[in-house]
Amino acid sequence: MVAMKKVYIKTFGCQMNENDSEKVLLLLSGEYEPVDRAEEADLILINTCSVREKPEHKLYSEIGRFRDIKEKRPDLLVGVMGCVAQQEGEALIRRFPFIDLVLGTQGFYNIREALKRVKLEGKPVVLTELREDFTIPLVLSKGSPQKRVKAFVTIMQGCDNFCTYCVVPYVRGREISRPAEEILTEIETLVKEEGVREVILLGQNVNSYGQKERGYPDFAELLELISQIEGLLRIRFTTSHPKDLSAKLIRVIAENPKVCKHIHLPLQAGSNRILQRMNRKYTKEEYLDKVTKLREQCPEIGITSDIIVGFPGEREEDFKETLEMLEKVRFQEIFSFKYSDRPFAAATKFKDKIPEEEKERRLKKVHEVQRRITEEVYGSYVGKEVEVLVEGVSEKDKTKLTGRTTTNLIVNFTAPRLDLMGALVKVLIEEPGKHSLKGRYVETLVS
Ligand code: SAH
Ligand code: SF4
Ligand code: F3S
Repeated sequence: MVAMKKVYIKTFGCQMNENDSEKVLLLLSGEYEPVDRAEEADLILINTCSVREKPEHKLYSEIGRFRDIKEKRPDLLVGVMGCVAQQEGEALIRRFPFIDLVLGTQGFYNIREALKRVKLEGKPVVLTELREDFTIPLVLSKGSPQKRVKAFVTIMQGCDNFCTYCVVPYVRGREISRPAEEILTEIETLVKEEGVREVILLGQNVNSYGQKERGYPDFAELLELISQIEGLLRIRFTTSHPKDLSAKLIRVIAENPKVCKHIHLPLQAGSNRILQRMNRKYTKEEYLDKVTKLREQCPEIGITSDIIVGFPGEREEDFKETLEMLEKVRFQEIFSFKYSDRPFAAATKFKDKIPEEEKERRLKKVHEVQRRITEEVYGSYVGKEVEVLVEGVSEKDKTKLTGRTTTNLIVNFTAPRLDLMGALVKVLIEEPGKHSLKGRYVETLVS
């Protein structure tokens, strides 16, 4: 038997990147096995993110370390994949000549051929074509399966929305949805082979699933189809665009017991003037109306969001409207960012950029307001019994179990036994923590 080669993969960015890294490991399995230390690897891959300035810089701060390893071991192969690879292409090789592979967001599926070509041709290979007629290949797990409670499943990729601040449509290409049969096959395999009980459906804009393709179910119908898979307990999804949140989808979220009562619904800004300049295609009134409908039909729903502060031309009164929206909607949690210019994005050319110190001040203010609201939301759980899907023993405290509520809050709790991974249990919440809830086991609902 030939000894397996070793691959080290470092992943930045969103859950789709994490899912792509998992797929790359599956594509390489049989030839490469994953290792935890770059120093041991025959192949180092960096899966990159370009959505804001900060994550892009992570590549540049990390890559020097890999050059040093390669200087000692010239046989080592180094590849860059993900959104910065897609964005920069050949330019990455010019800047870092020791790179062997540049694999874009569609190109990485051909990693095995690309590796062969590097060997054969003795020069770097760049695969960054973005095709509109691309079909996302079905990569199924095979061989010795690892048991796990939850798994990501990409159902569509790409984005046609062109929000003016965003690089994603340029680095992920046009929206492409996968056929429902393939998604169902993939989930059935995960449930059967790996014991998966929760899937997290991924896409830049999941609720526009199937809109472009003929004969595809829409997203609400896809959720219903997936919920029929036996053994699967929970379905989550991210990200949803407010403009595509239909009445039908709200109904399915409220009524289908397997669909988790949580939605990540990025608001971005509270002023209609800024929303329009962002090309978000909804007003704050429309956003509030959808939130009201969600809560009317599903009172327990947890709503989370993304906020950008300091978008070009954002005046103090615009910013105040963002703060007002935080108070009105009362999100469970938000991710907030300072606006940064991105390559190709239209807003990069907008005038009236906001000074860094001012963006910083606004971000702090957002944090302050939201921290109080989040604390209040967490506090409201105390004394309640919630359903938790057990993910395993808590990293921080090995005497406790950890899992999530249907609303996506982390719960750490004491239990009479610790071998409950994958079980759905009832937990009494006793105390709110900063980023989690604390409680105690009541009973097992599904073992
Ligand atoms: N597809 C998702 C998320 C895309 S990126 C959606 O449409 O909601 C994740 C978040 O990064 C965005 O929601 C936005 O809040 C933030 N973001 C994107 N581009 C940004 C930029 N140029 N500056 C600051 N934040 C940005
Ligand atoms: Fe970016 Fe907007 Fe597309 Fe989200 S919807 S990925 S923010 S362009
Ligand atoms: Fe980043 Fe690309 Fe995801 S830019 S957020 S890794 S789609």
